[in-house]
Amino acid sequence: MIGKGIVQIADSIFWIGEQDRETDKFEGLWSLPYGVAYNSYLLKGEKNVLVDTVKCPFAGDFVNKIAAVLGGGTLDYVIVNHMEPDHSGSLGILREIYPCVKLIGNTKTAEMLRNFWGIGENVVIVREGEPLDLGSRKFIFAMAPMVHWPESMASYDASDKILFSNDIFGAFGATEGGIFDDEADTDMTESEMMRYYVNIVGRFAAQASKALAVVSTLDIDVICPSHGPVWRSDPRRVMRLYEKWSRQETEEGVAVVYGTMYGNTKSAADTISRTLSERGVRGVRVYDIVRSDVSQVIVDIWRKSGLVLAACTYNMELFPPMAELLRHIENKNMRGRKIGLCGMHSWADASLRCMSEFIERSRGGWSLVEPKILIKSGLKEADIEQCELLASNMASEIKK
Ligand SMILES: Cc1cc2nc3c(=O)[nH]c(=O)nc-3n(C[C@H](O)[C@H](O)[C@H](O)COP(=O)(O)O)c2cc1C
Ligand SMILES: [Fe+2]
Ligand SMILES: [Fe+2]
Repeated sequence: MIGKGIVQIADSIFWIGEQDRETDKFEGLWSLPYGVAYNSYLLKGEKNVLVDTVKCPFAGDFVNKIAAVLGGGTLDYVIVNHMEPDHSGSLGILREIYPCVKLIGNTKTAEMLRNFWGIGENVVIVREGEPLDLGSRKFIFAMAPMVHWPESMASYDASDKILFSNDIFGAFGATEGGIFDDEADTDMTESEMMRYYVNIVGRFAAQASKALAVVSTLDIDVICPSHGPVWRSDPRRVMRLYEKWSRQETEEGVAVVYGTMYGNTKSAADTISRTLSERGVRGVRVYDIVRSDVSQVIVDIWRKSGLVLAACTYNMELFPPMAELLRHIENKNMRGRKIGLCGMHSWADASLRCMSEFIERSRGGWSLVEPKILIKSGLKEADIEQCELLASNMASEIKK
């Protein structure tokens, strides 16, 4: 370590990110059981260039690290790959400390700099593929529109063969001292990376694929994303993972998600899950939607070939936590899996109707496994048989 919280990445390139173990929910929505890292990189040279900043509450420590690396020198440029405030949040403070600093971004970045921070001057506009010489270093910029914001881009330092990919290849999880991929806990990194991909990038899988195709053509030695570890030992590995996730490739298994107030829907879900296992399906995961971490439920729905939704009716509507899950699934454009439905009510159903409408809205995106089940109040012998039949049909569908 060069100084407190500073890690050398390459000759005169330094990681000066911050570890956030204080935020409970990323974007106010996604749980952070292991925290999250905001990576920022300082490139020293003829011109001193910073790649992205950190979330505002960490700016104090962050600017001290910049000063320590620069050792009396000034900051000439900040490359602004992405304007989401987890990366642009310290720009205001930096401009106060280094009033002549120039910000590098695309035309959409420029508009957002004005709208977020009232910044209108000292902005350098770059375009797709156009090289930019900054002192001894040459940069090339790859636009990544809608991965996951319109101004998102990645910056390639052609002199050092390093890709600063921002949110692309990002992962949840603070980097627990293991800044590099070969130092990190591989299992945790991969699962936290997938959770980040599915929940943050998932809706934009097609755009992520395009961006991946562009950056794959570059000669890359190291990938420096803005969250998660620096990929120096095998940068192609994360590219392969991204490719797989972008294809929405599934594995054998069924996510069974239920929403209940008094346990009757749970009994139906348990009956279905037991029968799935009896019919040889492996990889069954059962979630109580009220108590489960929705970001993990979404990951399992993403990765498994089958999904069963079971929910009760609440005030003429679908049980609200299940309705919220369906909104997330639709928002992420998830489809292409086998799906089974089980509704529950006592006098006038809305649960099965709402879940059926969800499937209709996808216009053939999901393939429905029969029978659609509707149970009145408690499970009778005939309801149990229906649950077993749905599970058997699901098992043969996903084993096909
Ligand atoms: C606050 C509340 C609102 C309900 N609203 C409806 C409703 O609009 N229509 C209906 O048929 N049943 C309604 N029910 C009944 C439940 O959907 C039904 O009893 C179901 O079997 C409960 O399943 P559970 O045991 O899995 O919670 C409501 C129950 C509660 C407690
Ligand atoms: Fe972002
Ligand atoms: Fe981010």
